[in-house]
Amino acid sequence: MPSDPGTEIEIRRGDDWHLHLRDGADMQSVLPFTARQFARAIVMPNLKPPVTTVGEAAAYRDRILSALPAGLAFEPLMTLYLTNDTSAAEIKAAKESGFVHAVKLYPAGATTNSEAGVSVLTNLYPVFEAMQEADLPLLVHGEVTDAATDVFDRERLFMERDMHPLVRRFPDLRVVFEHITTRDAADFVENATERVAATITAHHLLLNRNALFAGGIRPHHYCLPVLKREEHRQRLVAAAISGNPKFFAGTDSAPHAKHTKENDCGCAGIFTAYAAVELYAEAFDNAGALDRLEGFLSEFGPRFYGLPLNAGKIKLKKVKSAVPKSFVMGANEVVPLRSGGELEWQIVA
Ligand code: DOR
Ligand code: ZN
Repeated sequence: MPSDPGTEIEIRRGDDWHLHLRDGADMQSVLPFTARQFARAIVMPNLKPPVTTVGEAAAYRDRILSALPAGLAFEPLMTLYLTNDTSAAEIKAAKESGFVHAVKLYPAGATTNSEAGVSVLTNLYPVFEAMQEADLPLLVHGEVTDAATDVFDRERLFMERDMHPLVRRFPDLRVVFEHITTRDAADFVENATERVAATITAHHLLLNRNALFAGGIRPHHYCLPVLKREEHRQRLVAAAISGNPKFFAGTDSAPHAKHTKENDCGCAGIFTAYAAVELYAEAFDNAGALDRLEGFLSEFGPRFYGLPLNAGKIKLKKVKSAVPKSFVMGANEVVPLRSGGELEWQIVA
C-alpha cells in the first residue's frame, strides 16, 4: 500500500513474466539487473540454438544459477521453444520437471532467433492437446509473418487467423498473449475466458511509434511487435491499470550489442531490465494509478501461473536519476531505454 502516494510507495516484490537473459558472458552481464529488480522471471528460450528440450532447459537453468552474483536470490522459471518437431512426450516431461513453467510459440520468422519456430500452427494441435492436459501454459508471440501483411497489422491479423481458432479449439489451455501492443489484443484478452492472459512491456506503455522516428531513425526503440499508434498505447495503459488480473508485467527486455542495433539491419529488442520496475512505476504514475502497480507487478502473474506470491517488499521513491549511455554486456555494450536521459522513479530499498 502506498505510504505517501505520489512520492514514495512500498509494494510486494514482483516478477518479470517475459525476459530475455541470453547466454554466456552476455547473460553474466545482464542477469544481475533483473535479479535486483525481481524475484523470478519467465526466461525466454530463443537462444541459438533454441532451448527445445527439458534437458536443455535444465542445463540453461544451471548456467543462469551459476552466473547469479552471491547474495542475490532469484528463481529462473524456464520455458521450452516450440518447433514443428516438439512431441507430446516432451510436454509431459516438461510438466513433470517442475522447473519448466511454460512453452513458447514463435511463428517461424516472426522475430529474433525464430527461424526454428512453428510454420503451420494446426500441425501442432496434438502438442497443444498435451499442454492442455498437463496444464502447461502456452506463451504466444502473436504476429503473422507473411511478407504481404503490413508490419503494423501483424498482431491484429494473428488474432483473427490463429488466436481465435486456437482458444476455441482448446478452451482449457492456459494462454498468455505476450507483449500485446494493440487495442485489438487488449479487447480480445479482456473478453476471453479466465484461462487467457497477456503481458505488457514498460516500453509499450511509455512509447508510441513516433519514438521510432523522433528527430531521426531510432534503432534503440525498435522491437517486435513494433511500437504502435498513440491510441493503442493508451488502450494498453488502460488495461494495465484496470486491476484486471489478466494483464501483468512482462518486460520483454531484449539486450542486443550496440553495434548490432546501430547497423544497416538493426536487431529488434529494447533493453529495460536495468530499471524495469522504475519504468513501470513511471507509466502507472503518469496515469494516476500507482495504487494498481502492485497487482500488475506482483500479484496477477503468480496467480495465473499458480505460484506463490513473493514474500519481500520493495520501496520506490519519486526522485530523478541519470541513465548511463550504455552498460557493459560481455565483450560489448548494450544501450538501455532512456540512454543518457533520466528516470523519474528509483528503487530505494
Ligand atoms: O523485440 C524483440 N526482441 N522481440 C522479440 O520477440 C524477441 C526479442 C529478442 O529476442 O531480441
Ligand atoms: Zn520476447
